[in-house]
Formats: sequence, structure tokens, C-alpha cells
Amino acid sequence: MSPRLRLVIVAAVARNRVIGGDNRLLWKLSADMRHFKSLTMGKPLVMGRKTFESIGRPLPGRETIVVTRDTSYAREGILVAGDLAAALAQAESAAARLGADEIVIAGGGEIYAQTMGQADRMELTEVDLTPKGDTLFPEIDAACWREARRETHPADLAKGNEAGFAFVTYDRITKAGQAR
Ligand SMILES: NC(=O)c1ccc[n+]([C@@H]2O[C@H](COP(=O)([O-])OP(=O)(O)OC[C@H]3O[C@@H](n4cnc5c(N)ncnc54)[C@H](OP(=O)(O)O)[C@@H]3O)[C@@H](O)[C@H]2O)c1
Repeated sequence: MSPRLRLVIVAAVARNRVIGGDNRLLWKLSADMRHFKSLTMGKPLVMGRKTFESIGRPLPGRETIVVTRDTSYAREGILVAGDLAAALAQAESAAARLGADEIVIAGGGEIYAQTMGQADRMELTEVDLTPKGDTLFPEIDAACWREARRETHPADLAKGNEAGFAFVTYDRITKAGQAR
């Protein structure tokens, strides 16, 4: 992958690392929907087949690359890749077409786990809930990541945010112990 292109994980993660259950999100946070849109607009998104089916459609203004082992998988408006390396290669070409300098890893649990070792940055929405779910975000190794920014928000039902949350940026720490 071109060194100019950054790989960015974007996820909303509960206190107990749950990110979903029954192939859906488990909370309503309107502010996070807007945040996700602003982080991803104009960029290629790599996601697992289950996450794509949970969303149900390609997101406008972004190029969706769906990873699946199903060689016959095809849906209108998406690119399909048979493994992660192929997905990242397709995302790199899409980034060049879109003029984007980032590839977004948009989940779910399987795809986060397989890409965390390569990611340059993580944009996590830390959700102040401990829901029951069946899909977890991988453990964050504190030796590999540095919290660079945190913006906390209280719950506000009138604004469609049913729980408190924080937008947190993690930068990968280089071997020298400094963020890139
Ligand atoms: N909170 C958040 O920010 C967030 C974000 C995204 C998703 N989610 C949630 O996460 C859950 C879905 O996550 P998940 O872990 O179950 O599924 P997933 O990661 O979305 O998709 C898994 C599927 O991706 C394909 N896949 C995975 N690794 C592959 C590889 N190396 N090569 C080829 N194909 C590969 C396989 O598809 P095939 O079975 O078709 O071969 C696999 O079944 C849902 O509940 C969703 O709502 C939450």
C-alpha cells in the first residue's frame, strides 16, 4: 500500500467491547451517525459481508468494498473482494480515483480483528453502555496505541443520543515509542 495512504479503523464500542448483536447496532446515537458520515465521506470503506448486509445498501458518497469468501457474491453499487489483501488493493485503487488519502475499515468484528495490526489510526466512539451482544471489538494493546484526542458528550434523548459517549482518536505508536 502507498505510504501516503492511511488505514483508519472507525468503530463504536461499548464499555464491554460489544459492537453489535444479531447483526445490528445496539444503541441509537444520532451524533455518532453524523460523526461516522464526516469521517468516511469521499473515502473507500472496507467491510465484512455481514456488516454490509446489516447496513443493507452501499453508503452514498463512498466506495464500498465488501469482503466475502462467497465467490458468487454480487450486489449493485459495491466492489467485492475474496480476501483482505484483495480488498485493500481495491480500496487503494478506489482511493486514487476518489482523491482520498485514507481507507476506512468499517467493521465488523472479524474485519477489525484482522486489520488492527496494520491500521495507522483508530477513530472510536466509546459508548457508555454495557449491552449484551455477540460481536466484540478486539482488545486494544496499550503498547501499540496512544490516545491522541478525546471529546466527551453526555446522553441527550432530545437529540437522539440515548447514552453518553466519547469520540476518541488513537494513533499507532511507532517502535521508537512516538506517534507517527
Ligand atoms: N459498532 C460498530 O461500529 C460496528 C461497525 C460495523 C459492524 N458492527 C456490527 O458487527 C456485527 C458484524 O460483525 P461480524 O464480525 O459478525 O461480521 P463482519 O466482520 O461484518 O463480516 C464477517 C464476514 O466477512 C467475510 N470475511 C471475514 N474475513 C474474511 C477474509 N479474510 N476473507 C474473505 N472474507 C472474509 C466473511 O463473509 P462470508 O461469510 O460471506 O464469506 C465473514 O462471514 C454486526 O452486529 C454489526 O452491526 C458494528
